[in-house]
Amino acid sequence: MDHFQYHGRVLHAEAVSLPDLAEAVGTPFYVYSSATLRRHYQVFTAALAGLDALTCFAVKANGNLAVIATLARQGAGADVVSGGELESALAAGVPAERIVFSGVGKSARELKAALAADILQINVESVPEMEALSCIACSVGTTARVALRINPDIDAHTHAKITTGVREAKFGIEWTAAHQVYARAAALPGLQPVGIAVHIGSQLTEIEPFAAAFQRLRDLIVMLRRDGHTITTLDLGGGLGVPYGDEEGPIPGPDAYAAVIRRAVGDLGCRLILEPGRLLVANAGLLVTRVLYIKEGATRTFVIVDAGMNDLMRPAMYGAHHAVVPVVNPEVNDKPMVADVVGPICETSDTFASGCTLPPLRAGDLLAIRTAGAYGSSMASFYNARPLCPEVLVADSTHAVVRERIPWQALLSWQRLPAWLAPAADEGQGQADGR
Ligand code: LLP
Repeated sequence: MDHFQYHGRVLHAEAVSLPDLAEAVGTPFYVYSSATLRRHYQVFTAALAGLDALTCFAVKANGNLAVIATLARQGAGADVVSGGELESALAAGVPAERIVFSGVGKSARELKAALAADILQINVESVPEMEALSCIACSVGTTARVALRINPDIDAHTHAKITTGVREAKFGIEWTAAHQVYARAAALPGLQPVGIAVHIGSQLTEIEPFAAAFQRLRDLIVMLRRDGHTITTLDLGGGLGVPYGDEEGPIPGPDAYAAVIRRAVGDLGCRLILEPGRLLVANAGLLVTRVLYIKEGATRTFVIVDAGMNDLMRPAMYGAHHAVVPVVNPEVNDKPMVADVVGPICETSDTFASGCTLPPLRAGDLLAIRTAGAYGSSMASFYNARPLCPEVLVADSTHAVVRERIPWQALLSWQRLPAWLAPAADEGQGQADGR
């Protein structure tokens, strides 16, 4: 459930009218609903009630400080994958003891920053990374709490580009090598192995892969404990899917997910860490865009909008479906139009929806692209020298611009012409040549 509803004919974010917001901030823009963020967090954590579980929001899904802070105020920790995300989480007020650091290629600088911040745990993904962390921890005179991310070789049955738990993937330590690697971690100075971690993929729409992965973890823990290792923490990753509207059946929700967790690992006496990203934020965000032109092509009608694939890359990158809806419904139910909703970018992949049924639209009308709160703004780029669009957080009838539009001129200000291409150098060259 989300808090983007029509009041009469007009779509609102909580009590804020989207046309008014569009007038105030200009299009395109992302809008997030505080109440939806809080509700998603509450539903997720309520499902885990009774378990010793810490929910760490996967910041990669939405790195906006206000979004992270909204969840942090509810008690969420953070799962970060870079020095930048670590700084964002700390700046948003997430306590260090609720931050875990994941990722397959953390640099020495990032590992040092994590140790300096004294975060809860670093999830290591390879023996070389473990050795590097051991050296760094020793050099700064500290001990790193580490979990080994295991690759359980379980197919998550999701999009190939976001499947991470199969053998061929770059992620994690092969599960069959886990006990050998855990012993190595225990022997290395500067490391305190506390447990294991797993993340098999994103946008999972079936529960069975989770069950299989968690069962594998259980077997591993039993084996590691038999070897004399202490296992206090179990990081189960993220990955639970959300409905985008094109799924075949219902998607398992937090209760079904929690039931699998209870069954597989609930009795191991481990502290559990969960890293949901999409589930918390996807349906808490819309991308609002304005129609620039209606173009009748040779075979199709195009609704050309002012948002592009640089703002929301998911359709272009994964063929992802995002529902596109009018912000203001027509007064009378005119004959709908069937059109492709496309952006201004010079690629055919810059298409948000094909063959979409919409009320008859005109230039200037507003559309909302749904389920855009996860991996929308966080994956945006300046492609085609377009600005990064603003982000707005709504709380009941108030709103705040929580990230300004970042103009394309920001790109120019970071670029330099080398001396030999500077206009003055050209003139000098001309004179030297006698031209
Ligand atoms: N933990 C780890 C270690 C991860 O790699 C991820 C996501 C998560 C947690 C959060 O997963 P979630 O609960 O959001 O599924 N850009 C893609 C999704 C990439 C996910 C990468 N890892 C998309 O737009 O679908």
